[in-house]
Amino acid sequence: MTSHLVSLSVNRVARTLAVSPQVSLLTLLRNDLGLNSPKYGCGLGECGACTVLVDGVAARSCVIPACGVAGRAITTLEGLGSPGALHPVQQAFIDEQAAQCGYCLSGMIMMTAALLARKPDPTDEEIRSELSGNLCRCGTHLEILKAVRRAALLMQKTSQAAVQAGSP
Ligand code: FES
Repeated sequence: MTSHLVSLSVNRVARTLAVSPQVSLLTLLRNDLGLNSPKYGCGLGECGACTVLVDGVAARSCVIPACGVAGRAITTLEGLGSPGALHPVQQAFIDEQAAQCGYCLSGMIMMTAALLARKPDPTDEEIRSELSGNLCRCGTHLEILKAVRRAALLMQKTSQAAVQAGSP
């Protein structure tokens, strides 16, 4: 099948890749770019293991054609923070030890990052609702809930500190 050249940004790096029409964004990220944080779970958009950010919005990369994200900015867990400067959501999940097998973890963290970017102080009900489509078979739900709350507090403290640093 004919390949198309697709230009996009992945973790703030501009990329141009030849992709076949049937290739998903998940396959592009994992197979062509070696970004293995998004996982293949169901392949049907139903488990959340493959969640990434597309222009800052959480999306299931297994059901998005790679050809459909030309010109968009994709962020995976690898691009959320860096080893020396973790994103607050990453730090909070570590602090709360919110993982067992870890398969769902990248998707959970990306969903949380998207949630807190648009709603910095969600209620427990809102957190549960937001993450209800991300499946965790290990039953780590309570630790994940604690991690999201901790991440929200960390991000609020960071933004308060930034405001204070900028005030005269
Ligand atoms: Fe994409 Fe399950 S692998 S939602």
